[in-house]
Amino acid sequence: MGYGAADYAGKPVVAILNTWSDLNTCHTHFPQRVEDVKRGVYQAGGFPVEIPVTSLSETFMKPSAMFYRNMLAMETEEVLRCHPIDAAVLMGGCDKTTPALIMGAISANVPAIYLPAGPMLRGNFNGTTLGSGTDTWKYWAEYCAGTIDQCTLRGVEDGIARSAGHCMTMGTASTMTAIAETLGLTLPGASSIPAVHSSHSRMAADSGRRAVEMAWEDVKPSDILSPASFDNAITVDMAIGGSTNAIIHLIAMAGRAGVKLPLERFDEISHRVPVVANLRPSGEFLMEDFYDAGGLRGLLNRIRGLLDVSCRTVNGRTLGENIDGAAVCNDDVIRTLDKPISQAGATFILRGNLAPDGCVIKPTCAEPRLLRHTGPALVFANYADLKSRIDGESLNVTADSVIVLQSAGPQGAPGMPEWGMLPIPKKLLRQGVRDMVRISDARMSGTSYGTCVLHVSPESAIGGPLALVRDGDRIELDVHARRLHLHVADDELARRREQWRPPQRRFDRGYGLLFAAECTQAHEGCDFKFLHPAGRPTPEPDIY
Ligand code: FES
Repeated sequence: MGYGAADYAGKPVVAILNTWSDLNTCHTHFPQRVEDVKRGVYQAGGFPVEIPVTSLSETFMKPSAMFYRNMLAMETEEVLRCHPIDAAVLMGGCDKTTPALIMGAISANVPAIYLPAGPMLRGNFNGTTLGSGTDTWKYWAEYCAGTIDQCTLRGVEDGIARSAGHCMTMGTASTMTAIAETLGLTLPGASSIPAVHSSHSRMAADSGRRAVEMAWEDVKPSDILSPASFDNAITVDMAIGGSTNAIIHLIAMAGRAGVKLPLERFDEISHRVPVVANLRPSGEFLMEDFYDAGGLRGLLNRIRGLLDVSCRTVNGRTLGENIDGAAVCNDDVIRTLDKPISQAGATFILRGNLAPDGCVIKPTCAEPRLLRHTGPALVFANYADLKSRIDGESLNVTADSVIVLQSAGPQGAPGMPEWGMLPIPKKLLRQGVRDMVRISDARMSGTSYGTCVLHVSPESAIGGPLALVRDGDRIELDVHARRLHLHVADDELARRREQWRPPQRRFDRGYGLLFAAECTQAHEGCDFKFLHPAGRPTPEPDIY
């Protein structure tokens, strides 16, 4: 390789874990950022080594990037364990890369700093500001309803993603990087910087410099993460109107750190935390506006009273010290606590005979009239069934129907794809219907919206009650009472259960088979059973 001993001897080896690929649109700037990190590492007296790891492209992977989150987590853990590495810079941003890299680093328990990819710039088409994901779904619905033509749709497509960076709404990517920062795993303010802003390069070099110091100080994830830091993360998730996906990832990350997060903890915290970030899909603005308004540091300082500011962070200071003096310069983008965009937090947990182990809804993204609704079920057995019938003119559906999708959960799909924003039937779109109650064991993109009940647990593919719903059954949703109820008598449900047969398993070999054997349910974080238990890495034998 051309290195001499003077290049590395006696210096901390800093691994730069890079989730770049030509098929990950969100990370196209990472080759340059690797050079920025290396600059910082060299300056601080370290020896940087770039290690490519699985990229997890949200838009291009089938059945879903979520299917491979645990694979990247395993890879991260093993890469950090098996190489002679003293500290790591974890480069991610596109949805699942953040939890995967952090889960692996927690289990390896090597000094690690997270480098968030940063959001894209605002999208624009014909003078209208566009948000990735959210406006894709909106304009697609209009196209299906016949209110815009293909030319307009192409214009939206060309204008919606105009720079490197992850989705710039408060989708899963922005939510998870904000959570990483709140947990204390990034430099202060890192998660809000737009990907192509010059500050992003400076932050990358700073992260490299700090990784070298962390190696000498031996600051490990176990020194930073605690029950209080995870409570802070949930608090911020609620205050930013974060993605429903964050619940699954937080449970999984906390599990790796030995912190148990029952679903009820999310609901308890959501009761007392208002949504103050006025960002799409819950609000109006985009991440570039959020950065200009003061970014996450400003928001954290604004909700300071709701946080445990004594938690440690990667820079050696407390969360409180990192946000001291952080200002908000636009109260419309980051609202004051007495003028939130929603008084209660972003995500509610529901239970009932249809979801004994819980399910999730994001009420800030739903039409308020549907938050209390009872209607007849319209059931699709799987996604193929939905695609083949949803737009049929003879479909027996009205705006009051409750659309149900089965076999879309962790085992069913498999991989729990983001199918949960089930499409409104075309014939209703043409009548002007834009929201309906929809229920599934799938997830939903953080950029999506609508009255979508998600993560129903246990899932239908393993015999959860969702598998027993039939067309015409009355389903009651009462978000305020946190209730989801199937109005079918118990003896009838018992009869249906006797007749029920599990769907055929998709994979008979390879990673798919491992996934089917090991993946837990949504309320348990979908981590693999054999990876989930907390604990320190297995000690290396003396020969090493
Ligand atoms: Fe990567 Fe949205 S596609 S974050």
